[in-house]
Formats: sequence, structure tokens, C-alpha cells
Amino acid sequence: MIAHKPSDATPDPERLTGSKVLITGAAQGVGAAIAARVVSSGGAVVLADVNFEGVEQRAAELSDAGGSASAILLDVTDDASWASGVERATEILGGLTSLVNNAAILHLGPLEDMAADHVEALLRVNLLGPTLGVRAATSALRDNGGGSIVNISSVAGLEGRNATVAYTASKWGVRGLTKAAAMELGRYGIRVNAVCPSMGNPDMFAPFVDSFELNEFMRTSPEPALVQNGRPRETDVGDVATMVTWLISDEATMCTGADFVVDTGWSAGSYIAGMPGWESEGERVEQQQATVRNRRAAADQA
Ligand SMILES: NC(=O)c1ccc[n+]([C@@H]2O[C@H](COP(=O)([O-])OP(=O)(O)OC[C@H]3O[C@@H](n4cnc5c(N)ncnc54)[C@H](O)[C@@H]3O)[C@@H](O)[C@H]2O)c1
Repeated sequence: MIAHKPSDATPDPERLTGSKVLITGAAQGVGAAIAARVVSSGGAVVLADVNFEGVEQRAAELSDAGGSASAILLDVTDDASWASGVERATEILGGLTSLVNNAAILHLGPLEDMAADHVEALLRVNLLGPTLGVRAATSALRDNGGGSIVNISSVAGLEGRNATVAYTASKWGVRGLTKAAAMELGRYGIRVNAVCPSMGNPDMFAPFVDSFELNEFMRTSPEPALVQNGRPRETDVGDVATMVTWLISDEATMCTGADFVVDTGWSAGSYIAGMPGWESEGERVEQQQATVRNRRAAADQA
């Protein structure tokens, strides 16, 4: 059987046996999914976040299910927080084999309205954060004889999209950080890679876009190449977790300084009207847009 979604596939419960993984931004969304997948693959995790209650809850759920999971408070924008966070994680796990730099924030809005403090706050979390993280984890990873760092970028780190200037700049920066760090740390057996997902977790967008607009946004954006049951195959957090788990594992020991795109073909290209492969795609998009228009009209009437 072809497993169309990672949740259909059974994780190898021993793939990450012996792995000791620190994951930032793990209270929810992608980070929480990565933590769950690492644990179900036999690894031990420390979930880190500014939302301590959130990571405590996630870690308790994983521990109750028999996994090895703990929570720490870590603010990725703060150097001292990184130093104590890595020390604590190393203590809990008995060493460190991997760091997943996942924490990030989003800001959507017009370029001309962007306030400097907004841009700075975003870059502090999304770019300064992983940079400090790579530096803070290096010594522990060297003590381990090497390891794997995975930085979560985005398709926004591969392309440009309207309303996302600061976020896009930060995610391109994460890819640059990844390549430069891979060059420096390869001599210690430390691999550094970037994962570039498309929209897998609408919660991140929710504060900016009401659900109808988000729906329209998703439907009118470039279409992913993959289609399943007549609908675009959208990525979910499990897809990202699957890729991260592989990059942490010994199966990826030949990979460093690289981008791993998880977007069901969203960034592969765009369709050329009238050319083979476009017609059915175009009809599908029209149907989806009509559905959104009807739902919007119904909402306006209500
Ligand atoms: N949401 C998507 O569809 C999507 C698409 C592409 C890439 N990504 C990337 O995936 C990663 C996770 O995104 P998500 O959708 O799970 O986001 P999310 O908003 O659901 O979760 C982000 C987590 O980061 C934490 N966080 C924020 N600031 C922090 C800080 N200073 N220190 C420590 N933790 C902090 C938050 O408390 C939260 O738990 C991000 O790097 C994001 O850019 C997400």
C-alpha cells in the first residue's frame, strides 16, 4: 500500500534509538509533532519553549505514553537562556546528539506599514535564535563526537511572497546560517541542514487572517504539484516531522549544508495556462474559488 500521509506510515520504533534531541518551539504545532515523532522513533527529547506550561503538557503526554520526554523553559533570543538550556538538556538526556531549531514567529502585513521594532522582534526569534542555538549546542555535540542540527526554514526561504517581507528575509537567513555553519562544523562530525516546509500548520497564520481569507489565500496561491483524491495534497506537521526524523538519523550521514523541501511540490513551479497538465488543474482551482466565494457570501448574509 502507498502511504499518502506520514500518519499512514508506521514509524520505525528503533530508527532514533540512542538519539538525544533538544527541540525549540515544541509547545505546539510543528515542534510538538517533531517531538512526538522522535519519541515514537525511539529517541529521547527535551522540549523547549517560552511557553513552559505548553511544553510541560506535551512532555507529560509523551511520558505517559511511555516515551522519554522532558520540558525546559528556553527563550531562543537570549544568549544566557541558551547556555543554561543546553546545559540542562544535556544533563537530562545524558548528552546531546541533535538540536532542532524550530521556534519562530510570523508577521503578515504590507511592507510599507512595517515598524522597525516588529521587524527586529521577528529577526531576533527567527534568525538570531537559531544562530545562538547552533553556537550554544556545538560544544555538547562535539563532546558527543558529532551530531545533527536541523534548522526549520520554510518555502518562504526559497521564494518571495507578498505580505511576508520580514518573515521571508528571516527564512532565507536560516538557509544561509545552515550552509555556513555546515562548512565550519563538518570537521567535528556535526551536520547542519535546513527543512523548508509549506503551510502545514494554519495556527501560525490564524492571528492574521480570518478563516475564510486564509482559505482563499491557500486556494489562490500557487498549486502544489501533488494531487490526492482530486484535491491538492497539502503538507501537515507530520510531513515535517518525518523529514526531521530522517535528518537526525544515521541514514542521513551524507547530508549537510542542504535544504530539504517538504511542500508537496508547491515551490516546484507554476502552471502555464493552456499547456498539457493545466486544464484539469485550472478547473479545480475555479471550483475551489467558487466554494470560497459562496461561503463568503453566506457569511455576509448571516
Ligand atoms: N505554520 C506553517 O504552516 C509553517 C510553514 C513553513 C514553515 N514553518 C516553520 O515551522 C516552525 C514551527 O512553526 P509552527 O507552525 O509550529 O508555529 P507555532 O506558532 O504554532 O509554534 C511556534 C512555537 O515557538 C514558540 N516560540 C516563539 N517565540 C519563542 C522564543 N523566543 N523562544 C522559544 N520558543 C518560542 C511558541 O511559543 C510556539 O510554541 C517555524 O520555524 C515556522 O517558521 C511553519
